[in-house]
Amino acid sequence: MPPEAKPLFPVQLVGAGPGAADLLTLRAARAVEGAQALLYDALVGEEILAMAPQACLKIQTGKRAGRPSMRQETINRLMIRLARRGLRVVRLKGGDPSIFGRVGEEAQALRLHGLAAEIVPGVTAACAAAAQFGLPLTHRGVARRVVMTTATTQDGELALDWAAASDPEATLAIYMGARAAPEIARRLIAAGRSPLTPVAIVENASSPGANLNRTTLAQQAVAAPMRAGAGPAILLVGEALAASASWPSDAGLEALPGAA
Ligand SMILES: C[S@@+](CC[C@H](N)C(=O)[O-])C[C@H]1O[C@@H](n2cnc3c(N)ncnc32)[C@H](O)[C@@H]1O
Repeated sequence: MPPEAKPLFPVQLVGAGPGAADLLTLRAARAVEGAQALLYDALVGEEILAMAPQACLKIQTGKRAGRPSMRQETINRLMIRLARRGLRVVRLKGGDPSIFGRVGEEAQALRLHGLAAEIVPGVTAACAAAAQFGLPLTHRGVARRVVMTTATTQDGELALDWAAASDPEATLAIYMGARAAPEIARRLIAAGRSPLTPVAIVENASSPGANLNRTTLAQQAVAAPMRAGAGPAILLVGEALAASASWPSDAGLEALPGAA
């Protein structure tokens, strides 16, 4: 049968979760196990990659802040080319593909070329980080909103909706913002958020080497910026964090080892 006559499978845009293989959904695991071509981001763990069949073509696409990555257009072209060959193509992304995962751009590129996209959700970093250290993101009577945001624009400018972020009933989950945490803390205080607001910086959430740094906006505002080259880290800010039993009333700048 000529290649163009083969039935084309929808390209699966799959969330791999925050790293730990046992946080992969069953649907995501089945997609990886059935993949004939796997395009995966740098944050996807080895254990998950090992679930793909031996014969599966595996292509790393990069996508770590500040490190070399494949251009988005190249990734799109590769997905399209491989899917047109009749292969089951899985595009595997860290966390949930719809949260800072460019899933809209990729699905649109596929559709423009007559290919269907199927999105498989994953556990996003904010939820994995909160769960690992027993931190609630909402809490009755304390926090009614969770804002998942990045602090920077495409050009790397620090730009958050500071007025909205100062809402005391909102828990902020700030992606790709850990290195700018001191500056973010200063701006949040200037926008009216209480200096005593709890802050959690969670690095490598879901891995055994995960790290929690419990602090407050006031302490974070004068802290040294996080060292470059550390693992992925997320910033959680809000009163709900202190509603957990694991949050000491005198929480200072301290790093806790990862939960087993
Ligand atoms: C491009 S975004 C992708 C987010 C991903 N789609 C998700 O839903 O988690 C990458 C950022 O997510 C956060 N992140 C991803 N994995 C993480 C992890 N295991 N621990 C802490 N933060 C993580 C970091 O802020 C990192 O800079």
